[in-house]
Amino acid sequence: MTLDRILQSQGFGTRRYCGDLIAAGLVEVNGELCEDPRAQFEVDGLRLMVDGEEWVACTKAYLVLNKPAGYECSQRPRHHPSVYNLLPVPLRQREVQAVGRLDHDTTGLLLLTDDGQFIHAQTSPKRKVPKVYEVTTAEPVTQEQVDALLTGVKLDDEPAPIAAEGCEITGERSLRLTLLQGKYHQVKRMVVAAGNHVNALHRSAIGGLKLDPALPEGEWRWLTAEDLAALTSKD
Ligand code: URA
Repeated sequence: MTLDRILQSQGFGTRRYCGDLIAAGLVEVNGELCEDPRAQFEVDGLRLMVDGEEWVACTKAYLVLNKPAGYECSQRPRHHPSVYNLLPVPLRQREVQAVGRLDHDTTGLLLLTDDGQFIHAQTSPKRKVPKVYEVTTAEPVTQEQVDALLTGVKLDDEPAPIAAEGCEITGERSLRLTLLQGKYHQVKRMVVAAGNHVNALHRSAIGGLKLDPALPEGEWRWLTAEDLAALTSKD
């Protein structure tokens, strides 16, 4: 692909604008200045420096954000800032989307991508991708509540009871819940239906991908090939 198109595909602006950046001597490719907008390169893994910003090019963007509380997973947030404000401009221009939403007060593992097929595969109810939540409850957790969550609780707008795939007590007022669905406010509603209340909610894993403890709250990083493989494994 030509360099001007590569920059455009990475979210650096229109093709004409990217061509002007290149012609102005503001773009390095793999450590060398390139002033020819029509120069051809392979996209994936190309190391760019665009007007002082380092960037590794990729055909599709897959990333993980450690979502802080107080951010909405929406492009047009209503009451809180958007998680998209936590991403650099090129990723926002590329229109990466959250893979399923977390509530504004939920923290933890949020995937984002501009690969529509990936979003569909991850969020399709048929795929049954397990999502693990660390729940802090208002009242002490009882064995009856755990049993109810595992056998199934009735939610208002659902015809049949919904059961957690896994539920273990992790403290006096905390439990780890694994769900195969991603229904609206599902954890909070299930915990209420079981007779307790969620005070804090954190997503710690999706499929076999755990939230990287080295990733600070509010920060993002690219998903590696191993991360992507872990997502499709169920342990
Ligand atoms: N369930 C909820 O209730 N909220 C979330 O953010 C995610 C799952």
